[in-house]
Amino acid sequence: MVETADALVFFGATGDLAYKKIFPALYAMAKRNKLDFRVIGQGRKPYSREQLIERARAAVAELQDFDARAFERLAQKLDYVSGDYTDAHTFERLRGALNGARLPVHYLAIPPSAFPAVVAQLSAAGCAKPGRVIIEKPFGRDLASARALNLVLQGCFDERSIFRIDHYLGKEAVQNMLFFRFANAFLEPIWNRTYVKSIQITMAESFGVDGRGRFYEETGVIRDVIQNHLFQIVSYLAMEAPSSTYCEALRDEQAKVLRTVRPMKSDAVVLGQFDGYRQQADVAPDSRVPTYAALRLFVDSWRWQGVPFIVRAGKGLARTMTDVVVQLHRPPPVVFHDEAAPYENYVRFRLSPKVGIDLGANAKRPGEGMHAVPVALKVTDTGKQGEGGRMDAYERLLGDAIEGDATLFARQDLVEAAWSIVEPVLDSPQEPSKYAKGTWGPERAGELVADLGGWVTS
Ligand code: BG6
Repeated sequence: MVETADALVFFGATGDLAYKKIFPALYAMAKRNKLDFRVIGQGRKPYSREQLIERARAAVAELQDFDARAFERLAQKLDYVSGDYTDAHTFERLRGALNGARLPVHYLAIPPSAFPAVVAQLSAAGCAKPGRVIIEKPFGRDLASARALNLVLQGCFDERSIFRIDHYLGKEAVQNMLFFRFANAFLEPIWNRTYVKSIQITMAESFGVDGRGRFYEETGVIRDVIQNHLFQIVSYLAMEAPSSTYCEALRDEQAKVLRTVRPMKSDAVVLGQFDGYRQQADVAPDSRVPTYAALRLFVDSWRWQGVPFIVRAGKGLARTMTDVVVQLHRPPPVVFHDEAAPYENYVRFRLSPKVGIDLGANAKRPGEGMHAVPVALKVTDTGKQGEGGRMDAYERLLGDAIEGDATLFARQDLVEAAWSIVEPVLDSPQEPSKYAKGTWGPERAGELVADLGGWVTS
């Protein structure tokens, strides 16, 4: 029996992540009457409890349908412990504030460089066992540092108490992609190299790195979103069906399939940097950090051998959207002797900002002759957050960590498999190609899809 935790401690309580994601998630839980654990914010700023409550209020007051009574329920649970991470007194005070909590969850919403100190102090203060820890991606900077980080964590927490949060896994649309794949009998027969021509995954963001220059200089696009968010999507698309309801079955399949992806070679990667990146605050004037990358992956599994998986992500692009197109081979044009061959069928998962699934098909163009017209059969989700059980990713994942359900968190073997794929190109000597903001990235990226008829999402 997995126990439900009775306290949440979040480090970095006065920071950006807490403001944008954690307070809204806790408030949403309070709104659903699911906030039945204590919540202790920790930060270096000498806030009072009241000041933290005011910050939490500011974080959610602008939300639509703000519910003052739900906020009051959150405020009653909130407490604050200030102090430096390296100071043992901070953790003594924390233990006092935990006031005998049976099973606390410690969420490290702080820079990864601070993880070792905090974890060691938690352990020394007797707050780690029993206890759980949640850490934010990126998990390390490469394979070796991911392993080193894991050793630090495992020195103080059991593996089943370590929750590596990748908020993409908590997104309703990403879960729906997984569900749609395995809940519909018509997909499985075509979900393989015989029918699928290519899979293209795009995560485009029109904004830059505003205010996050320092973070971005240390990460760059591959470490920031490709090694984690987009590879999670690759694993959901490419994996075999989890064969049981055993809670690790899904994670077993994810790790297994990522281990079949070949390590990248530099000729299958195009890097870019948007014009103006080097002028951002905290960015080196000669920075070679990529803000765009397109990768052509090869999955060496029985199912996918020879099917290119193209993954691209970038900042400062033409639009903000994340989507996946699974393109099928063209049907043979022999039946109706159309002068133009019928269009390729596809399955398109729109993950954000629009959420939906499109099935691309051919229909007859009205009129004489038998000519094809492309049509899309669409399922579109127009519901709002909070409606009909829809949850924000952080609400969902924090709730799961409290319950002790790690299914939607990254397991260490998957993290290591993902680093192994990108490791050869992480610190590539390739000078990123410049691209203008508001475009689709460097033109050179088109070479990666030249034999596939180009990008299918733009
Ligand atoms: C974060 C990255 O993990 O995900 C950001 O650090 C990125 O750079 C963000 O913008 C995107 O998340 P979402 O949920 O808005 O697609």
